[in-house]
Amino acid sequence: MSPESSPDTSPEPPAAVDTSRPHTARVYDWYLGGKDHYPVDVELGLQIVSLEPQAKYVARHNRWFMQRATRHLVKEAGIRQFLDIGSGIPTEPNLHRIAQSIAADARVVYVDHDPTVLAHAGSLLSGTPEGRTEFLQEDVREPEKILERAAAVLDFTRPVALSMNALLHFVSAEDGARALVERLVGALPAGSHLALSQVAGDYDPERTKEAVAMYKAGGVTLVPRSHSEVAAFFTGLDLLDPGVVWLPDWRPELAVDEERDGSPVPMYAGVARKR
Ligand SMILES: C[S@@+](CC[C@H](N)C(=O)[O-])C[C@H]1O[C@@H](n2cnc3c(N)ncnc32)[C@H](O)[C@@H]1O
Repeated sequence: MSPESSPDTSPEPPAAVDTSRPHTARVYDWYLGGKDHYPVDVELGLQIVSLEPQAKYVARHNRWFMQRATRHLVKEAGIRQFLDIGSGIPTEPNLHRIAQSIAADARVVYVDHDPTVLAHAGSLLSGTPEGRTEFLQEDVREPEKILERAAAVLDFTRPVALSMNALLHFVSAEDGARALVERLVGALPAGSHLALSQVAGDYDPERTKEAVAMYKAGGVTLVPRSHSEVAAFFTGLDLLDPGVVWLPDWRPELAVDEERDGSPVPMYAGVARKR
């Protein structure tokens, strides 16, 4: 069996983990070469790779964007608190490792709705003694619950970086994606930041439609967005240079250990500051 087709998966699903249909956290874990996925996730991942052979490279770029954005936020913007929603199954280096390697007292609250992430959350909680990390199993569509629980760790009178990487393309307009971002950003004080990445809908619309259909067949709603739709998430905020750009083009000078091959990466990314 080739490594590509080998279901290199967790043998025993933790309780509450549904292995009858694919979960986005686990498909993404498979793209990244992790171990916390099941045959049903590999099946969808393989379909997507057959359509978009760069899918695994795109996933790696998404992690690299998180790393560069975190370096910027801690080193240059002085941020010490992060609310990372749609955090995913832990993949080293996780956000708190990057943040706390620069500022040991950084606090990070991770949020994800998937019980698989909860089952593996242990490595998200092994931060520095000076800082704090917490994991909350919550849904971004219930922002009040997130804000209430995160307040046990984060001081909402001081700047917070809200990070929503590769999350919003799983949240539809019907679910109120823009209003959810506005509600969460609205709870943060001046000097806070919003960092996000999102699958593009205007890079190769035909291929993207096929990807949407593949995810739909697996029971997952994928919502690609155009450049202007992604930029709209930052309405009312000051977008940092270079604006909303392809993932690899966001502050490439902050890269550490990235193995780029120059292939196109059809995902947008941006970071903005709240006045
Ligand atoms: C593609 S992964 C991204 C992981 C990580 N943010 C990154 O960029 O590397 C998307 C994550 O969003 C989570 N997610 C999807 N819909 C969500 C929702 N409604 N509420 C909270 N998390 C959600 C999934 O469970 C998954 O872990």
